[in-house]
Amino acid sequence: MIDFKNLAKKYNTPLYIYDFDGIEKNYTQLKEAFKARKSLICYAVKANSNLSVLKHLANLGSGADCVSIGEVKRAMKAGIPKYKIIFSGVGKRDEEIEEAILRDILMINIESEAEYHRIELIAAKLDKVARISIRVNPNIDAHTHPYISTGLNENKFGIDISKAKKLYILAKDSKYLEPVGIHFHIGSQLTDLKPIAEASEIVASMLKSLKVLGVDIRFFDVGGGIGIKYQDEKTIKLYDYAQSIFGALKGLDVSVICEPGRYIIGNNGYFLTTVLYEKSNNFKRFIVVDAGMNDLIRPALYKTYHKIEAVCSNNVNVSKCDVVGPVCESSDFFAKNIDLPILSHGDLLLIKSAGAYGFTMSSNYNSRGRACEVAIKDDMDMMIRKRESFEDMIRLEKEFL
Ligand code: LLP
Repeated sequence: MIDFKNLAKKYNTPLYIYDFDGIEKNYTQLKEAFKARKSLICYAVKANSNLSVLKHLANLGSGADCVSIGEVKRAMKAGIPKYKIIFSGVGKRDEEIEEAILRDILMINIESEAEYHRIELIAAKLDKVARISIRVNPNIDAHTHPYISTGLNENKFGIDISKAKKLYILAKDSKYLEPVGIHFHIGSQLTDLKPIAEASEIVASMLKSLKVLGVDIRFFDVGGGIGIKYQDEKTIKLYDYAQSIFGALKGLDVSVICEPGRYIIGNNGYFLTTVLYEKSNNFKRFIVVDAGMNDLIRPALYKTYHKIEAVCSNNVNVSKCDVVGPVCESSDFFAKNIDLPILSHGDLLLIKSAGAYGFTMSSNYNSRGRACEVAIKDDMDMMIRKRESFEDMIRLEKEFL
């Protein structure tokens, strides 16, 4: 049991808390589900990029899925070997491509025809061979929130099958590109297996036709997206997930790559905040807390649900309320119309399932310093990022007067 009250006393709030034992358990369970094949888990750094989190995963054997050279550098700094690092993203800058080639990572995931040519040009200039994969858009509806659905023709991600095939054939004869992988990612917070199985079938059948043409692809990258329970979602069983992918790969000698972010850390992260005030009008009861949308933007951005519990409360005198922050926006809320007991100044609220896309999406909006981050491992707590001070916030600014 995590002693949240004690952590608040020691580190103050707002505070992110990550359960490192839970992270290990989730990583191991997923790896176990894939054991019938060669597999590599490339943790999606964007979910939570704290160096200690990455180091913990590196020690477990994880690779990294990165979307910027900053994330690649973080992964390498944390000790993730270069041959387990993938660099994706629709808009990579020349300098980022150049550095990824020089760092000799596992592969660069190409997201457009124009980018294909750009990478080839940069590799030629460096006189290096860039290992690549192509992100294929299988045009599959993942049945998730539209903002995190990515595998449809209307989305900006990936390349359609026929164009991707042509690029693979071109790459086969390129002096500077070596096609080693094929990639898709149809969306995030997936709770339905069917679209994953369908996408795997589509992409595996393309892979088979490429093998016939002599394109030797060794990595079948299914992206991330395994959904978690925020409320009462029915989640995918890991065994079924792995089997639905393996089903499409019969007879193919490829390693499976999976890029989970949320699954690894989502429910292993807690966000702790302190109640400042209760206020009511004729319509509503509001609980004003010391954390804001700048700390955890998911409810404001996607209207997502995070379970909120009062720490150390016997839950009497419960009534409906909105939990809101101090930021000057009406969208600065963590929950609407939830049941909470009467609270007083200084009481703690625990916001659950906050490990993924919590801190990484935080900002300094309203000149609020980012929260402190703490790791719990073997019942010990350790600060893994200091609370941002005012000086930290203004450090890069220059006075021009
Ligand atoms: N691989 C690729 C290529 C991705 O684009 C993503 C997530 C992942 C892996 C990891 O997906 P996961 O396993 O975490 O679902 N900010 C949103 C989520 C954005 C996801 C973007 N891509 C949220 O808070 O729900």
